Amino acid sequence: MIVLDGATKRYNGTTVLDDVSLELGGEGVTALIGPNGAGKSTLFGIVGRLIAPDAGDIRIDGQSVSRAASRDLARTIAVLRQDNTIAARLTVADLVEFGRFPHSQGRLTTEDRDKIDEAIDYLDLGDLRGRFLDELSGGQRQRAFVAMVLAQDTKYVLLDEPLNNLDLKHMSEIMRLVRRMADELGKRIIIVLHDINFASTHSDRIIAMRDGRVVADAGRDEIMTPDVLGRVYDTEVDVRQIDGRPVALYYS
Ligand SMILES: Nc1ncnc2c1ncn2[C@@H]1O[C@H](COP(=O)(O)OP(=O)(O)O)[C@@H](O)[C@H]1O
Ligand SMILES: [Mg+2]
Repeated sequence: MIVLDGATKRYNGTTVLDDVSLELGGEGVTALIGPNGAGKSTLFGIVGRLIAPDAGDIRIDGQSVSRAASRDLARTIAVLRQDNTIAARLTVADLVEFGRFPHSQGRLTTEDRDKIDEAIDYLDLGDLRGRFLDELSGGQRQRAFVAMVLAQDTKYVLLDEPLNNLDLKHMSEIMRLVRRMADELGKRIIIVLHDINFASTHSDRIIAMRDGRVVADAGRDEIMTPDVLGRVYDTEVDVRQIDGRPVALYYS
């Protein structure tokens, strides 16, 4: 499990992650929701040691994140960042190969090549493996990034807003893939989502953040209420039951 104990981050005197204690990374898919600026990406950054906390302790399967060797950390947890700047002159295969770096250190073994091929197949990118990233559609590119993370072959996978800029079909496609990666491959996935209906449909647990704190943490039915969503987003959200599932209406 990923255990945060009093994780705190401040920027210029402003606290953006406020003494967060939390256990993450149980089986299945955990959605992390909350308004812009809630601290979701900061939390991911701290867990993945991309950002140093000002206070608090983070452990992954008992290992202290601050003291872990980079290679060990990268073999345990993969973080797909929200702002992954793309090097356009990389091919899909090059990108996925990067995911193997913590294992291969740049020298690919047969196992590394197998993992790369498996990840490319799993994301159905076989026909695109030689394509440059700037020659892909948004949905294809996002699949390539997920393949990179999959090739890293970690127990924990953190995805920060992977549905950004995708159309409806491709959002659904990524979410179904995420669900399959959890169900078939046993990945423990934590995913930042803005569309709470995707969170509700595809996740086992929903953690809601606001102002650097966790304000709700429960299963779908407890989170998907006008009261909780109203408090999280500071706006009125209606919730209806459709086919036995709560669906939020927030476009009115
Ligand atoms: N490097 C930084 N310097 C200053 N402020 C930052 C920095 N990174 C994030 N912040 C601030 O921290 C807050 C939380 O940001 P973030 O974790 O990105 O939120 P979220 O991902 O939930 O939208 C925001 O108010 C943001 O402006
Ligand atoms: Mg963010």
